[in-house]
Amino acid sequence: MTTNLQARPALSRFSPGLTGTVRVPGDKSISHRSLMFGSLASGVTRITGLLEGEDVLRTAEAMKTMGAAIEREGGTWVIRGTGNGCLLEPKEPLDFGNAGTGARLTMGLVGSYDMVTRFVGDASLSKRPMGRVLDPLRQMGVQVEEAAPGDRLPITLRGPKHAAPITYRVPMASAQVKSAVLLAGLNTPGITTVIEPVMTRDHTEKMLAGFGAEIEVEVDAEGARHIRLQGQGTLKGQEIAVPGDPSSAAFPLVAGLIAPDSDITIENVLMNPTRTGLILTLQEMGADIAIVNRRLAGGEEVADLRVRSSRLKGVEVPPERAPAMIDEYPVLAVAASFAEGETRMLGIEELRVKESDRLSAVADGLKANGVDCTEGEATLAVRGRPDGKGLGGGQVATHLDHRIAMSFLVLGLAAEKPVTVDDRSMIATSFPEFIPLMQRLGAEIE
Ligand code: S3P
Repeated sequence: MTTNLQARPALSRFSPGLTGTVRVPGDKSISHRSLMFGSLASGVTRITGLLEGEDVLRTAEAMKTMGAAIEREGGTWVIRGTGNGCLLEPKEPLDFGNAGTGARLTMGLVGSYDMVTRFVGDASLSKRPMGRVLDPLRQMGVQVEEAAPGDRLPITLRGPKHAAPITYRVPMASAQVKSAVLLAGLNTPGITTVIEPVMTRDHTEKMLAGFGAEIEVEVDAEGARHIRLQGQGTLKGQEIAVPGDPSSAAFPLVAGLIAPDSDITIENVLMNPTRTGLILTLQEMGADIAIVNRRLAGGEEVADLRVRSSRLKGVEVPPERAPAMIDEYPVLAVAASFAEGETRMLGIEELRVKESDRLSAVADGLKANGVDCTEGEATLAVRGRPDGKGLGGGQVATHLDHRIAMSFLVLGLAAEKPVTVDDRSMIATSFPEFIPLMQRLGAEIE
Protein backbone atom coordinates (compact mmCIF):
# COMPACT_ATOMS: atom_id res chain seq x y z
CA MET A 1 0.00 0.00 0.00
CA THR A 2 1.39 3.39 -0.99
CA THR A 3 0.69 5.95 1.70
CA ASN A 4 1.65 9.55 2.17
CA LEU A 5 2.10 10.65 5.77
CA GLN A 6 1.12 14.27 4.99
CA ALA A 7 -1.95 13.28 2.97
CA ARG A 8 -4.28 16.23 2.32
CA PRO A 9 -7.75 15.22 1.11
CA ALA A 10 -9.81 17.29 -1.34
CA LEU A 11 -13.49 17.32 -2.24
CA SER A 12 -15.34 18.42 -5.37
CA ARG A 13 -19.08 19.09 -5.82
CA PHE A 14 -21.58 19.39 -8.66
CA SER A 15 -20.60 22.61 -10.49
CA PRO A 16 -22.74 23.51 -13.50
CA GLY A 17 -21.85 26.48 -15.71
CA LEU A 18 -18.04 26.30 -15.80
CA THR A 19 -17.01 29.38 -17.77
CA GLY A 20 -13.83 31.25 -18.70
CA THR A 21 -10.52 31.18 -20.52
CA VAL A 22 -7.45 29.52 -19.03
CA ARG A 23 -3.89 28.48 -19.85
CA VAL A 24 -2.49 25.24 -18.49
CA PRO A 25 1.19 24.95 -17.53
CA GLY A 26 3.95 23.90 -19.91
CA ASP A 27 4.21 20.39 -21.29
CA LYS A 28 5.90 18.06 -18.83
CA SER A 29 7.69 15.93 -21.43
CA ILE A 30 9.10 18.96 -23.24
CA SER A 31 10.02 20.66 -19.94
CA HIS A 32 12.14 17.71 -18.74
CA ARG A 33 13.88 17.48 -22.11
CA SER A 34 14.48 21.26 -22.34
CA LEU A 35 16.35 21.17 -19.04
CA MET A 36 18.32 18.05 -19.94
CA PHE A 37 19.34 19.11 -23.44
CA GLY A 38 20.03 22.69 -22.36
CA SER A 39 22.26 21.35 -19.59
CA LEU A 40 24.22 19.24 -22.08
CA ALA A 41 24.49 21.87 -24.79
CA SER A 42 27.34 24.29 -25.33
CA GLY A 43 26.33 27.90 -24.80
CA VAL A 44 23.14 29.34 -23.37
CA THR A 45 19.61 27.91 -23.49
CA ARG A 46 16.63 30.10 -22.56
CA ILE A 47 13.33 28.44 -21.71
CA THR A 48 9.98 30.19 -21.30
CA GLY A 49 6.76 28.46 -20.26
CA LEU A 50 8.63 25.74 -18.36
CA LEU A 51 6.38 23.61 -16.15
CA GLU A 52 7.46 24.48 -12.61
CA GLY A 53 6.02 21.27 -11.13
CA GLU A 54 7.89 19.12 -8.64
CA ASP A 55 8.82 16.46 -11.23
CA VAL A 56 10.51 18.96 -13.52
CA LEU A 57 12.25 20.82 -10.68
CA ARG A 58 13.84 17.48 -9.68
CA THR A 59 15.33 17.24 -13.15
CA ALA A 60 16.70 20.78 -12.82
CA GLU A 61 18.33 19.84 -9.50
CA ALA A 62 19.84 16.69 -10.99
CA MET A 63 21.33 18.59 -13.92
CA LYS A 64 22.78 21.21 -11.55
CA THR A 65 24.35 18.45 -9.46
CA MET A 66 26.08 17.25 -12.65
CA GLY A 67 27.56 20.62 -13.54
CA ALA A 68 24.98 22.69 -15.44
CA ALA A 69 24.36 26.29 -14.33
CA ILE A 70 20.59 26.81 -14.16
CA GLU A 71 18.94 30.01 -13.03
CA ARG A 72 15.47 31.49 -13.14
CA GLU A 73 15.59 35.09 -14.35
CA GLY A 74 12.06 36.49 -14.18
CA GLY A 75 9.89 34.06 -16.11
CA THR A 76 12.82 32.67 -18.12
CA TRP A 77 15.00 29.71 -17.16
CA VAL A 78 18.56 30.33 -18.28
CA ILE A 79 20.96 27.40 -18.61
CA ARG A 80 24.67 27.40 -19.26
CA GLY A 81 25.33 23.83 -20.32
CA THR A 82 28.39 21.67 -19.73
CA GLY A 83 28.84 20.65 -23.38
CA ASN A 84 27.97 17.15 -24.65
CA GLY A 85 30.06 14.48 -22.93
CA CYS A 86 31.07 16.79 -20.07
CA LEU A 87 28.62 16.03 -17.24
CA LEU A 88 30.27 15.67 -13.83
CA GLU A 89 29.88 12.73 -11.47
CA PRO A 90 27.17 13.65 -8.96
CA LYS A 91 28.47 13.75 -5.39
CA GLU A 92 25.09 12.75 -3.95
CA PRO A 93 22.22 10.49 -5.04
CA LEU A 94 19.85 11.97 -7.64
CA ASP A 95 16.40 12.08 -6.03
CA PHE A 96 13.66 12.05 -8.68
CA GLY A 97 10.74 12.04 -6.24
CA ASN A 98 7.63 10.84 -8.13
CA ALA A 99 9.07 11.37 -11.63
CA GLY A 100 9.41 8.37 -13.93
CA THR A 101 10.37 10.48 -16.94
CA GLY A 102 13.12 12.32 -15.04
CA ALA A 103 14.55 9.11 -13.59
CA ARG A 104 14.41 6.96 -16.73
CA LEU A 105 15.73 9.59 -19.15
CA THR A 106 18.53 10.55 -16.78
CA MET A 107 19.56 6.91 -16.40
CA GLY A 108 20.10 6.89 -20.14
CA LEU A 109 21.84 10.24 -20.11
CA VAL A 110 24.44 9.27 -17.46
CA GLY A 111 24.65 5.56 -18.33
CA SER A 112 27.29 6.09 -21.00
CA TYR A 113 29.53 8.20 -18.71
CA ASP A 114 32.51 6.64 -16.93
CA MET A 115 31.08 7.53 -13.51
CA VAL A 116 28.91 6.23 -10.68
CA THR A 117 25.38 7.59 -10.26
CA ARG A 118 22.80 6.62 -7.64
CA PHE A 119 19.06 7.09 -8.25
CA VAL A 120 16.40 7.29 -5.53
CA GLY A 121 12.72 8.24 -5.51
CA ASP A 122 9.47 8.22 -3.54
CA ALA A 123 7.36 5.15 -2.68
CA SER A 124 5.51 5.29 -6.02
CA LEU A 125 8.66 5.62 -8.16
CA SER A 126 10.39 2.90 -6.12
CA LYS A 127 7.70 0.43 -7.19
CA ARG A 128 8.01 1.11 -10.91
CA PRO A 129 9.96 -1.21 -13.25
CA MET A 130 13.33 0.16 -14.36
CA GLY A 131 14.51 -3.03 -16.12
CA ARG A 132 13.00 -1.69 -19.36
CA VAL A 133 15.73 0.99 -19.30
CA LEU A 134 18.49 -1.04 -17.62
CA ASP A 135 18.30 -3.87 -20.20
CA PRO A 136 19.46 -1.78 -23.18
CA LEU A 137 21.93 0.11 -20.98
CA ARG A 138 23.50 -3.19 -19.92
CA GLN A 139 23.96 -3.99 -23.62
CA MET A 140 25.85 -0.71 -23.98
CA GLY A 141 28.25 -1.73 -21.21
CA VAL A 142 26.62 -0.14 -18.16
CA GLN A 143 26.98 -2.01 -14.87
CA VAL A 144 24.06 -1.99 -12.46
CA GLU A 145 25.89 -2.03 -9.12
CA GLU A 146 22.79 -1.84 -6.95
CA ALA A 147 19.08 -2.37 -7.62
CA ALA A 148 16.13 -3.44 -5.48
CA PRO A 149 14.46 -6.72 -6.53
CA GLY A 150 12.84 -6.52 -9.97
CA ASP A 151 15.27 -3.78 -11.10
CA ARG A 152 13.67 -1.08 -8.97
CA LEU A 153 15.03 2.00 -7.16
CA PRO A 154 17.33 2.63 -5.40
CA ILE A 155 19.65 1.93 -8.32
CA THR A 156 23.36 2.65 -8.75
CA LEU A 157 24.85 2.71 -12.24
CA ARG A 158 28.53 2.54 -13.20
CA GLY A 159 29.14 3.56 -16.78
CA PRO A 160 31.79 1.94 -19.00
CA LYS A 161 35.08 3.58 -20.09
CA HIS A 162 33.69 3.61 -23.64
CA ALA A 163 30.05 2.76 -24.23
CA ALA A 164 29.12 0.48 -27.14
CA PRO A 165 26.57 1.71 -29.68
CA ILE A 166 23.60 -0.66 -30.06
CA THR A 167 20.58 -1.21 -32.23
CA TYR A 168 17.62 -1.62 -29.90
CA ARG A 169 14.07 -2.61 -30.78
CA VAL A 170 11.84 -1.21 -28.04
CA PRO A 171 9.71 -4.11 -26.75
CA MET A 172 6.85 -2.01 -25.37
CA ALA A 173 5.32 1.29 -26.55
CA SER A 174 7.40 3.62 -24.38
CA ALA A 175 8.81 7.03 -25.22
CA GLN A 176 10.83 6.88 -22.01
CA VAL A 177 12.67 3.74 -23.08
CA LYS A 178 13.25 5.07 -26.61
CA SER A 179 14.55 8.31 -25.15
CA ALA A 180 16.81 6.67 -22.56
CA VAL A 181 18.62 4.69 -25.28
CA LEU A 182 18.98 7.76 -27.52
CA LEU A 183 20.30 9.86 -24.63
CA ALA A 184 22.85 7.17 -23.79
CA GLY A 185 23.80 7.35 -27.48
CA LEU A 186 24.71 11.03 -27.13
CA ASN A 187 27.94 10.11 -25.29
CA THR A 188 28.63 6.89 -27.23
CA PRO A 189 30.94 6.68 -30.25
CA GLY A 190 29.26 5.70 -33.54
CA ILE A 191 25.59 5.37 -34.34
CA THR A 192 22.98 4.31 -31.80
CA THR A 193 19.77 3.04 -33.41
CA VAL A 194 16.36 2.67 -31.80
CA ILE A 195 13.67 0.76 -33.65
CA GLU A 196 10.19 1.73 -32.59
CA PRO A 197 7.46 -0.57 -33.96
CA VAL A 198 4.69 1.65 -32.55
CA MET A 199 5.21 5.40 -32.65
CA THR A 200 5.25 7.16 -29.29
CA ARG A 201 5.66 10.85 -28.48
CA ASP A 202 8.53 12.18 -30.59
CA HIS A 203 9.78 15.09 -28.48
CA THR A 204 13.25 13.60 -27.98
CA GLU A 205 13.89 13.17 -31.70
CA LYS A 206 12.50 16.58 -32.63
CA MET A 207 14.25 18.48 -29.87
CA LEU A 208 17.64 16.77 -30.33
CA ALA A 209 17.48 17.75 -34.00
CA GLY A 210 16.67 21.31 -32.90
CA PHE A 211 19.73 21.33 -30.64
CA GLY A 212 21.88 20.34 -33.63
CA ALA A 213 22.32 16.58 -33.10
CA GLU A 214 22.79 14.39 -36.17
CA ILE A 215 19.62 12.31 -35.96
CA GLU A 216 17.48 10.79 -38.69
CA VAL A 217 14.24 8.84 -38.74
CA GLU A 218 13.24 6.34 -41.38
CA VAL A 219 10.01 4.35 -41.52
CA ASP A 220 10.32 0.77 -42.86
CA ALA A 221 7.81 -1.25 -44.88
CA GLU A 222 6.15 -2.53 -41.68
CA GLY A 223 5.73 1.02 -40.38
CA ALA A 224 8.46 0.70 -37.72
CA ARG A 225 10.52 3.84 -37.13
CA HIS A 226 14.31 3.51 -37.23
CA ILE A 227 15.89 6.40 -35.33
CA ARG A 228 19.63 6.79 -35.85
CA LEU A 229 21.73 9.11 -33.71
CA GLN A 230 25.39 9.93 -34.35
CA GLY A 231 27.08 9.99 -30.96
CA GLN A 232 29.51 12.53 -29.52
CA GLY A 233 28.27 15.42 -31.65
CA THR A 234 27.85 19.00 -30.49
CA LEU A 235 24.60 20.34 -29.07
CA LYS A 236 24.06 24.08 -29.24
CA GLY A 237 22.02 26.16 -26.79
CA GLN A 238 18.51 27.08 -27.96
CA GLU A 239 15.58 29.39 -27.23
CA ILE A 240 12.59 27.24 -26.23
CA ALA A 241 8.96 28.27 -25.65
CA VAL A 242 7.25 25.30 -23.98
CA PRO A 243 3.64 24.88 -25.18
CA GLY A 244 0.74 24.06 -22.83
CA ASP A 245 0.52 20.41 -21.76
CA PRO A 246 -2.30 18.50 -23.47
CA SER A 247 -2.20 15.97 -20.61
CA SER A 248 -3.00 18.80 -18.16
CA ALA A 249 -5.50 20.46 -20.52
CA ALA A 250 -7.37 17.13 -20.44
CA PHE A 251 -8.80 17.91 -16.96
CA PRO A 252 -10.54 21.24 -17.66
CA LEU A 253 -11.42 19.85 -21.10
CA VAL A 254 -13.37 16.89 -19.71
CA ALA A 255 -14.82 19.06 -16.92
CA GLY A 256 -16.19 21.46 -19.55
CA LEU A 257 -17.86 18.58 -21.40
CA ILE A 258 -19.53 16.86 -18.44
CA ALA A 259 -20.48 19.79 -16.17
CA PRO A 260 -23.81 21.09 -17.57
CA ASP A 261 -24.03 24.54 -19.23
CA SER A 262 -20.26 24.99 -19.48
CA ASP A 263 -18.30 26.94 -22.08
CA ILE A 264 -14.54 27.20 -21.56
CA THR A 265 -11.48 27.96 -23.66
CA ILE A 266 -8.04 26.50 -23.01
CA GLU A 267 -5.33 28.45 -24.80
CA ASN A 268 -1.97 27.44 -26.25
CA VAL A 269 -2.28 23.65 -26.07
CA LEU A 270 0.34 21.44 -27.77
CA MET A 271 -1.26 19.67 -30.76
CA ASN A 272 1.55 17.25 -31.65
CA PRO A 273 -0.32 14.26 -33.18
CA THR A 274 1.49 11.83 -30.84
CA ARG A 275 -0.38 13.56 -27.98
CA THR A 276 -3.91 14.28 -29.25
CA GLY A 277 -5.58 10.86 -28.96
CA LEU A 278 -7.92 12.07 -26.20
CA ILE A 279 -9.32 14.93 -28.31
CA LEU A 280 -9.98 12.53 -31.19
CA THR A 281 -11.69 10.01 -28.88
CA LEU A 282 -13.85 12.66 -27.22
CA GLN A 283 -14.87 14.01 -30.63
CA GLU A 284 -15.88 10.48 -31.64
CA MET A 285 -18.00 10.41 -28.47
CA GLY A 286 -19.80 13.53 -29.68
CA ALA A 287 -17.85 16.17 -27.75
CA ASP A 288 -18.17 19.79 -28.85
CA ILE A 289 -14.49 20.77 -29.01
CA ALA A 290 -13.53 23.51 -31.45
CA ILE A 291 -9.81 23.58 -32.27
CA VAL A 292 -9.14 27.21 -33.15
CA ASN A 293 -6.21 29.49 -33.85
CA ARG A 294 -3.88 26.68 -34.92
CA ARG A 295 -0.33 28.04 -35.20
CA LEU A 296 3.31 27.02 -34.97
CA ALA A 297 5.31 27.80 -31.82
CA GLY A 298 8.92 26.65 -31.55
CA GLY A 299 8.57 23.84 -34.08
CA GLU A 300 5.34 22.44 -32.57
CA GLU A 301 1.74 23.09 -33.51
CA VAL A 302 -0.41 24.65 -30.79
CA ALA A 303 -4.08 25.68 -30.73
CA ASP A 304 -6.82 26.99 -28.46
CA LEU A 305 -9.59 24.58 -27.49
CA ARG A 306 -13.15 25.83 -26.99
CA VAL A 307 -15.19 23.25 -25.12
CA ARG A 308 -18.94 23.22 -24.46
CA SER A 309 -21.06 20.78 -22.44
CA SER A 310 -21.95 17.85 -24.65
CA ARG A 311 -24.09 14.73 -24.74
CA LEU A 312 -21.49 11.97 -25.00
CA LYS A 313 -21.97 8.44 -26.26
CA GLY A 314 -19.80 5.38 -25.60
CA VAL A 315 -17.18 4.31 -28.17
CA GLU A 316 -14.48 1.68 -28.56
CA VAL A 317 -10.96 3.11 -28.20
CA PRO A 318 -8.61 1.00 -30.36
CA PRO A 319 -5.35 -0.31 -28.85
CA GLU A 320 -3.19 1.43 -31.46
CA ARG A 321 -4.36 4.80 -30.14
CA ALA A 322 -3.00 4.12 -26.64
CA PRO A 323 0.45 5.77 -27.08
CA ALA A 324 -1.17 9.04 -28.22
CA MET A 325 -3.31 9.29 -25.07
CA ILE A 326 -1.54 7.05 -22.58
CA ASP A 327 -1.78 9.52 -19.67
CA GLU A 328 -5.37 10.48 -20.47
CA TYR A 329 -7.20 7.18 -19.82
CA PRO A 330 -8.12 8.03 -16.21
CA VAL A 331 -9.89 11.23 -17.25
CA LEU A 332 -11.37 9.54 -20.34
CA ALA A 333 -12.90 6.98 -17.96
CA VAL A 334 -14.46 9.93 -16.09
CA ALA A 335 -15.93 11.31 -19.34
CA ALA A 336 -17.21 7.80 -20.14
CA SER A 337 -19.00 7.72 -16.77
CA PHE A 338 -21.35 10.41 -18.16
CA ALA A 339 -21.71 8.94 -21.67
CA GLU A 340 -24.68 7.02 -22.93
CA GLY A 341 -23.80 3.34 -23.35
CA GLU A 342 -20.46 1.59 -22.99
CA THR A 343 -16.94 2.90 -23.64
CA ARG A 344 -14.39 0.15 -24.19
CA MET A 345 -10.67 0.94 -23.83
CA LEU A 346 -8.41 -1.73 -25.32
CA GLY A 347 -4.68 -2.45 -25.17
CA ILE A 348 -3.97 -0.37 -22.07
CA GLU A 349 -1.65 -2.75 -20.17
CA GLU A 350 0.96 0.04 -19.82
CA LEU A 351 -1.41 1.77 -17.37
CA ARG A 352 -0.43 -0.83 -14.80
CA VAL A 353 3.13 0.59 -14.50
CA LYS A 354 2.41 4.31 -14.24
CA GLU A 355 2.64 6.40 -11.03
CA SER A 356 0.12 3.83 -9.72
CA ASP A 357 -1.52 0.78 -11.25
CA ARG A 358 -3.88 3.16 -13.01
CA LEU A 359 -6.12 0.48 -14.41
CA SER A 360 -7.11 -0.80 -10.99
CA ALA A 361 -6.96 2.65 -9.33
CA VAL A 362 -9.44 3.99 -11.92
CA ALA A 363 -11.75 0.96 -11.71
CA ASP A 364 -11.74 1.09 -7.89
CA GLY A 365 -12.42 4.83 -7.86
CA LEU A 366 -15.26 4.50 -10.37
CA LYS A 367 -16.88 1.67 -8.41
CA ALA A 368 -16.57 3.64 -5.15
CA ASN A 369 -18.58 6.39 -6.89
CA GLY A 370 -21.34 4.20 -8.29
CA VAL A 371 -20.01 3.90 -11.86
CA ASP A 372 -20.65 0.57 -13.55
CA CYS A 373 -17.34 -0.69 -15.02
CA THR A 374 -15.36 -3.84 -15.73
CA GLU A 375 -11.59 -4.09 -15.36
CA GLY A 376 -9.77 -6.61 -17.58
CA GLU A 377 -6.06 -7.44 -17.65
CA ALA A 378 -5.44 -4.80 -20.36
CA THR A 379 -8.91 -3.33 -20.84
CA LEU A 380 -11.49 -1.17 -19.13
CA ALA A 381 -15.19 -0.94 -19.97
CA VAL A 382 -17.28 1.88 -18.50
CA ARG A 383 -21.06 2.13 -18.71
CA GLY A 384 -22.12 5.73 -18.19
CA ARG A 385 -25.05 7.65 -16.68
CA PRO A 386 -25.57 10.83 -18.75
CA ASP A 387 -27.61 12.52 -15.98
CA GLY A 388 -24.98 11.73 -13.31
CA LYS A 389 -27.77 10.47 -11.03
CA GLY A 390 -26.54 8.19 -8.28
CA LEU A 391 -22.89 8.94 -9.09
CA GLY A 392 -20.37 10.28 -6.57
CA GLY A 393 -20.40 9.99 -2.81
CA GLY A 394 -17.21 7.92 -2.70
CA GLN A 395 -13.70 8.28 -1.33
CA VAL A 396 -10.91 7.67 -3.86
CA ALA A 397 -7.48 6.22 -3.04
CA THR A 398 -4.98 8.17 -5.16
CA HIS A 399 -1.90 5.97 -4.50
CA LEU A 400 0.50 8.94 -4.86
CA ASP A 401 -0.80 9.48 -8.40
CA HIS A 402 -1.51 13.07 -9.54
CA ARG A 403 -3.66 12.05 -12.48
CA ILE A 404 -5.91 9.83 -10.34
CA ALA A 405 -6.43 12.77 -7.94
CA MET A 406 -7.28 15.27 -10.71
CA SER A 407 -9.48 12.83 -12.66
CA PHE A 408 -11.73 12.07 -9.71
CA LEU A 409 -11.99 15.72 -8.67
CA VAL A 410 -13.32 16.28 -12.21
CA LEU A 411 -15.82 13.43 -11.72
CA GLY A 412 -17.23 15.22 -8.67
CA LEU A 413 -18.02 18.35 -10.74
CA ALA A 414 -20.76 16.51 -12.68
CA ALA A 415 -21.84 13.78 -10.24
CA GLU A 416 -24.93 14.05 -8.06
CA LYS A 417 -22.95 13.64 -4.84
CA PRO A 418 -19.53 15.08 -3.89
CA VAL A 419 -16.34 13.10 -4.52
CA THR A 420 -13.44 12.98 -2.07
CA VAL A 421 -9.85 12.11 -2.97
CA ASP A 422 -7.59 10.99 -0.13
CA ASP A 423 -4.63 13.19 -1.11
CA ARG A 424 -4.21 16.30 -3.26
CA SER A 425 -0.50 16.79 -2.62
CA MET A 426 0.76 14.84 -5.65
CA ILE A 427 -1.08 17.21 -8.00
CA ALA A 428 1.91 19.55 -7.54
CA THR A 429 4.13 17.11 -9.46
CA SER A 430 2.58 18.11 -12.81
CA PHE A 431 -0.10 20.81 -12.34
CA PRO A 432 0.47 22.86 -9.18
CA GLU A 433 -2.20 25.43 -10.09
CA PHE A 434 -4.90 22.83 -10.90
CA ILE A 435 -7.27 23.59 -8.02
CA PRO A 436 -7.18 27.43 -8.23
CA LEU A 437 -7.46 27.25 -12.04
CA MET A 438 -10.55 25.03 -11.80
CA GLN A 439 -12.00 27.31 -9.10
CA ARG A 440 -11.57 30.29 -11.43
CA LEU A 441 -13.77 28.45 -13.96
CA GLY A 442 -16.40 28.02 -11.25
CA ALA A 443 -15.53 24.56 -9.95
CA GLU A 444 -16.44 23.90 -6.34
CA ILE A 445 -13.33 22.17 -5.00
CA GLU A 446 -12.25 22.47 -1.39
C1 S3P B 1 6.64 10.23 -21.18
C2 S3P B 1 6.30 9.01 -21.71
C3 S3P B 1 5.16 8.20 -21.23
C4 S3P B 1 4.19 9.02 -20.38
C5 S3P B 1 4.93 9.89 -19.39
C6 S3P B 1 5.85 10.85 -20.11
C7 S3P B 1 7.81 10.95 -21.74
O1 S3P B 1 5.66 7.14 -20.44
O2 S3P B 1 3.30 8.17 -19.69
O3 S3P B 1 4.01 10.63 -18.60
O4 S3P B 1 7.95 12.16 -21.46
O5 S3P B 1 8.59 10.32 -22.46
P1 S3P B 1 6.08 5.71 -21.07
O6 S3P B 1 7.32 5.88 -21.85
O7 S3P B 1 6.28 4.82 -19.87
O8 S3P B 1 4.89 5.29 -21.89
